Formats: sequence, C-alpha cells, structure tokens
Amino acid sequence: MAGFSSTPIHISIFLLSLCILSLSSLSWSSSRSNLERQNDDYEKWVSWNVENHKKKTSTTWETKQGMVTAGHRKRSGRSVVDSKLRRADLRTVRMCVSQDGSCDFASIREAIDSIPVNNTRRTILDIKPGLYREKIVVPLAKPFITFMGDSQNPPTITGNDTASTIGDDGRPLTTFHSATVAVNSDYFVAINVIFENTVPHVTGTLAEQAVALRISGNKAAFYNCTFYGYQDTLYDHKGLHYFKNCFIQGSVDFIFGYGRSLYETCYLNSVATKVASMTAQKRTNSSLSSGFSFKDSVVTGSGLLYLGRAWGDRSRVIFSYTFMDKVVLSQGWNDWGDQNRERYVNILGQFIEALLECLVSI
Ligand SMILES: *[C@@H]1O[C@H](CO)[C@@H](O)[C@H](O)[C@H]1NC(C)=O
Ligand SMILES: *[C@@H]1O[C@H](CO)[C@@H](O)[C@H](O)[C@H]1NC(C)=O
Ligand SMILES: *[C@@H]1O[C@H](CO)[C@@H](O)[C@H](O)[C@H]1NC(C)=O
Ligand SMILES: *[C@@H]1O[C@H](CO)[C@@H](O)[C@H](O)[C@H]1NC(C)=O
Repeated sequence: MAGFSSTPIHISIFLLSLCILSLSSLSWSSSRSNLERQNDDYEKWVSWNVENHKKKTSTTWETKQGMVTAGHRKRSGRSVVDSKLRRADLRTVRMCVSQDGSCDFASIREAIDSIPVNNTRRTILDIKPGLYREKIVVPLAKPFITFMGDSQNPPTITGNDTASTIGDDGRPLTTFHSATVAVNSDYFVAINVIFENTVPHVTGTLAEQAVALRISGNKAAFYNCTFYGYQDTLYDHKGLHYFKNCFIQGSVDFIFGYGRSLYETCYLNSVATKVASMTAQKRTNSSLSSGFSFKDSVVTGSGLLYLGRAWGDRSRVIFSYTFMDKVVLSQGWNDWGDQNRERYVNILGQFIEALLECLVSI
C-alpha cells in the first residue's frame, strides 16, 4: 500500500470506530451515571447480538454436522466445528529448532522444508531462544504448522526487506513480498514468537512499506506474539484470524489488509513522529465478511494517531473496551481523502456475529 500522500482511492468507504474509554478515573457524578447507562445499553446490545448469533448458527451447525457425520453417531454440542482441524490436532508431531545445532534443525526454514506437502498433522516447531535472521514463507500446501517459542525468552524472527528491495527476479518485491514471515497456509498458530522488520519509515519517502508478518491463510491464531515494524508491520491479509495478548508496534498503517480478525487484550503501540493512521482495513464491498475488531486492548504511543483510515470502499474496524491514550485524535478515523466514505454506516451487530463465528472456528 502507498504512503499517506499517494494514490487516491476512488470508491467510497466506511469505517466504524466504537471506543469505550476507561471509566476508572471518573468520580461519582452525573457524567458517570450517564456513562454507566451507556455502558449498560452497550452490554445489552452486545448480548442481544450474541444470542441472535447463537440461534442462527446452531441450526447451520446441525445441518453441516448432519452432512459430515451422516451414518455416524451425531456428536452433541459444538465439539466438531472443523473436523479437519480436529483430526490434525489428534495426530501431533513435534520438532525442534535451535541455532546451536543441539536440535532437529538449525533454522526454521529447514524445519518447514522437512514437513510433507499436503501435511495433515499438527506440526509443532519448538523454536529455541535466539535471533533468527530468516525470510520465511510457509507454503499453501503445508497447513497445521505451529511456531512455539518460550514465553520467558521468545525467539525473534527478523528481516529488513521493503517493498522496494530488489528481489531475485530483478524487480521490487512489493509490500506483499516484503514480509519477514509470510504464511500462506491454513491453520497456522504462533505462540510466544517475536516477528520483526527493522526498516524504519521515513516520512515523505515512497515504498518504505516493510512487513514483519503477512498472514494470508485461513483460521490462524497468534498468542503472546510481538510484531515490531514501522510502516505496514502486520499484514492481516485475508482469512479468519485470532490475536490474543499480542503486542503490535508500527508507525503507519501498521495493521492492514482485509482479514476478518479479532484482536483481544492486545497492546497497540505507535512509534509515529507525526500524524499517522494505525489501521488500514480493506473491505471493498458490502458483501464481504472482512473487518478488524479490537477488544479489551490498549492504544498508546507517540505522534498523533487516527485509529484507522479506510482502504476499501466498505472498510470495517471496531474498537471496544479499549483504552486509548491521548495520542489518538478525537476524529478517530480518516477517510483517506474521500468524503464519500462517510456516507456508509453499517450495522455493528453483523460484525459481532462474524467475529463469534471466527472464534468458534479456531
Ligand atoms: C497435494 O494435494 C493436491 C490437491 O489435492 C494435489 O493436486 C497434489 O498432487 C498433492 N501433492 C502431493 C505431493 O501429494
Ligand atoms: C539488511 O540486513 C542485512 C543483514 O544484516 C545487511 O547485510 C543489509 O545491509 C541490510 N539491508 C539494509 C537495506 O539495511
Ligand atoms: C502467555 O504469556 C503469559 C505471561 O507470560 C503466560 O503466563 C502464558 O502461559 C503464555 N501463554 C502461552 C500460550 O504460552
Ligand atoms: C464483492 O467482491 C467480491 C470479491 O471480490 C466479488 O466477487 C463480488 O462480485 C463483489 N460484489 C459487488 C456487489 O461488487
């Protein structure tokens, strides 16, 4: 994606930001009771949506399961949401990676190379502490891979490619291929891993996009992970993704793409020096299930920050129960130079449903 000043996007956009700020410092007063009432209404409204979603999807699940398990005894409850995933998780393989040669593999790439094409087993790579200077692509045909680090001493996977770095074919890599780690396969999991791109963003220059992680596979989950970068740190490209307890740092558009993602208890830190936008969500039309939701999170950092700027014609980003430091601009979001984008108002309830579906599928 381009810098703040470049290519105008012609289509209209929508972006919804719901910000519920921390109430802890308020004293008993009329404003407090107002806020409490609003909070109550919000809670009611959320649980209404949750109930609605359950009703709708319970019928769908039964139908789907009925087809999948036809002829078998039907399992009760929600245990079989994804039978492929369940089968893979029942047949787990472990391998370990350590740079000192004391393990199965000395690099993450070698470990991935050893995994068979069309892999059907959950394959856990125990990655020992260390700085791994590797460019990694997890191929489409290798699903069910887990990167597992040590929570006390997580491994760092680092790189310094940008969109303009010249690739092997003599052409610029583009943002897409600048990622230090790119995941194309489904069912990827990372736990206690630091993903990094060290190239800083210099205001006013072109093509400084430098991705730390690109996730393009479906049904991916990241727990206790850290993403360090500047412009375009985390490319939440496409698919259902879940981020829990993650630290994400960058300067411009540092969470972007058209993933359908839930970020829970994450810490988002801006290192921008001027005005920047934190997210750039690219939902291009109203029929697409795409959007980012941040819940119980923290936004902090330097510079002045828009929560997001709309990259697609119907971008969706939601912040709920999220603490926002004073770096966040009161306007909240930026229309990326097109006032038409403000025409679109959407129904938040639909998005909460989408997220619930995302959660139970992982
Ligand atoms: C992997 O699966 C694809 C699609 O089913 C198939 O075309 C391909 O031959 C398989 N490759 C191997 C090495 O099994
Ligand atoms: C990227 O890192 C490599 C390895 O440390 C280094 O040789 C190279 O000069 C760096 N490139 C840039 C553009 O900083
Ligand atoms: C995440 O980090 C916390 C705090 O260090 C730790 O207690 C927890 O076990 C970690 N989670 C996983 C899945 O390793
Ligand atoms: C929305 O986008 C999808 C995927 O690009 C496309 O298949 C569909 O035709 C689009 N719908 C409209 C109304 O533009």
